[in-house]
Amino acid sequence: MSHEPVASAAFAPSPQPEAGRTVVEPLPAPLRGAATVPGDKSISHRAVLFAAMAEGTSRVSGVLDSEDVRSSIKAVSQLGARVSLERQPDGSLAGGITGWGASGPRKPDAPIDCGNSGTTARLLMGVLAPWDVPVEITGDESLQRRPMRRITAPLMKMGARFEPGGRETLPITEVGTRDLRAITYDAPMASAQLKTAVLLAGVYARGTTTLNEPAPSRNHTELMLPEFGVPTTAADRTASVTGPRVLQAAEVRVPGDPSSAAFLVCAAVLKPGSSLQVENVSLNTARIGFTRTLERMGADVSVRHAGAAGKEPYGMIAACHTPSLHGCEVPAEKIAGIVDEVPVLALVAAHARGVTVFREVGELRVKETDRLAAVVEGLGQLGVEAYIDGNDLYVEGQPGLRAPAGLVFDSHGDHRLAMTWALVGLTGGVPVEVKNFDSVKISYPRFLDDIERLAR
Ligand code: S3P
Repeated sequence: MSHEPVASAAFAPSPQPEAGRTVVEPLPAPLRGAATVPGDKSISHRAVLFAAMAEGTSRVSGVLDSEDVRSSIKAVSQLGARVSLERQPDGSLAGGITGWGASGPRKPDAPIDCGNSGTTARLLMGVLAPWDVPVEITGDESLQRRPMRRITAPLMKMGARFEPGGRETLPITEVGTRDLRAITYDAPMASAQLKTAVLLAGVYARGTTTLNEPAPSRNHTELMLPEFGVPTTAADRTASVTGPRVLQAAEVRVPGDPSSAAFLVCAAVLKPGSSLQVENVSLNTARIGFTRTLERMGADVSVRHAGAAGKEPYGMIAACHTPSLHGCEVPAEKIAGIVDEVPVLALVAAHARGVTVFREVGELRVKETDRLAAVVEGLGQLGVEAYIDGNDLYVEGQPGLRAPAGLVFDSHGDHRLAMTWALVGLTGGVPVEVKNFDSVKISYPRFLDDIERLAR
């Protein structure tokens, strides 16, 4: 079905929204039955980028078809990888990618525009570091505001150059070197993007490159590089790779995205009568921290393992409506494991008895938008007391919370905020409007279709 201009026209006649706004109507029934979600965004980016770096033709399947992943596909195509992916009946992308291998990428004839995708831009900097090919990397307005120093600083230590010197945001031109130095780097923040950029450069550096992080971030790179013939050693908060090596073509099957599943799961927890199972979803422990946070709030959520795709575990996440939730404290070292789910978890916390505290969530300020400010703003519109103290986010829950009529939320063009505020309308009693809801195309284009199908 079409989502513009009225999202759920089937359920109730709504007044025409203003341009750029989508009306999200309450779901007509509880969420019930089995669902699947599109492929994991982080794993899809890595499948595309690693296949492009590799010698030979890799076979990939289950790849997320969304704007962010398309940015990675376009980038590697510009750099000389041959990508022949086709859309499958389930909406995923599958096919072959022939990489540049030992001969390296070609000089693109235009700047590489990463769109909204921080993962594309930052991982690409690691991919390009070993090659003396100048490449200008840029992105949309949001991406041009996001910090890049965290990536350029360690890569400069390894020998790569960035122009203009000292620039902290895109557009930046990278000039790599075939003489990369291996380093040991203590990352100032837990970021899988930073870790991956350094490890990917390390694949080509002579010796062992080690990245130590202050808290464990997602480990898809450490799990996938060995599939491409590059051994990694990884332990709690540290990962290493020894080079120089050339990646060899591999087969990658991408499981469903737990960060997308989180929206269905949280909707089921909030919507009376719901009982839902999301199947074939990644159960990587670095990604399903949100199920633990929900459990700690007393939510009826469970996880069942089914198997592994490569080294990535997958299975089912089940969730039922939970009428009485309670607040909890999420410690700093757990934040990297829920970094993309904090906004929707804050919305669930708004329905819980007592205060929920998310410790040390300063990284949310530099996501697609300032998600901390946006969460405080949106919850404030709902009449919920939410505030930031230092880098901690506090949400004072209100059991029985009901949204007033006529709310208009601003997604700030951020896909995860668009889905978070859509849940207010979907699981509540009155419609809401969401500005720039369209941004869901970044990670979960069929979000509204999926959630509406579960509530028939
Ligand atoms: C990602 C890592 C996280 C996450 C982003 C995807 C990745 O960012 O927020 O959506 O694929 O490595 P940081 O590593 O910067 O925290």
